[in-house]
Amino acid sequence: MHHTHARVVTHLSTFVAGALAVVLIFRPARTIVPEASLGAPERFPAAARVALHQRMLRHGTQLGELMQRVVLLDRESVARIGSEIFDEPTLARPLPGDALEGQLPERFFQAQDALRTASRRLVTAAAGGQSSEALAMELGKLAQTCIACHDAYLHDPPASAPRSADPARVH
Ligand code: HEC
Repeated sequence: MHHTHARVVTHLSTFVAGALAVVLIFRPARTIVPEASLGAPERFPAAARVALHQRMLRHGTQLGELMQRVVLLDRESVARIGSEIFDEPTLARPLPGDALEGQLPERFFQAQDALRTASRRLVTAAAGGQSSEALAMELGKLAQTCIACHDAYLHDPPASAPRSADPARVH
């Protein structure tokens, strides 16, 4: 009798462990937190959005990796990822006829420059073996440039035509 009981308990706990594993594997994390996406300003043309989208896809994972490496004080990886961000081709101010012409605010381009500057400073701090406080501060500044650009993109009015195209301003 005792023996049978023990076997039932064993089976039960195996079942519970199995059920737990199933719950852990299939827990609906993704259904609770939707995929992160920035959206687009009102009336933003689809062609312009396509032109931007590919360039912006990698940002999210890069900041996540950077943050993790800074937290772990893995200066070598911080310098590597920071350099990747620094080396990314930047978006030139659109010329007349470009899909993005007249769609992006000036602060977008300022934030883009600020991101490059911030990534260079972070690389310098990491490669130069600067303090953990310095690393954390540079990471924070870098993240600020991401947020500033997103804010400008969503909320600032687009810049008017390039200055050189404005006859009143040509000297
Ligand atoms: C120069 C402006 C600019 C900077 C700087 C910038 N972003 Fe973005 N980001 C955008 C724009 C514009 C989009 C939306 C693109 C689109 O519609 O797909 C975007 C989209 C994203 C998305 C959503 C991607 C998706 O799949 O929809 C993430 C995540 C993101 N950015 C993270 C970051 C992080 C992190 C940084 C800083 C390391 C950063 N961005 C810096 C302009 C910028």
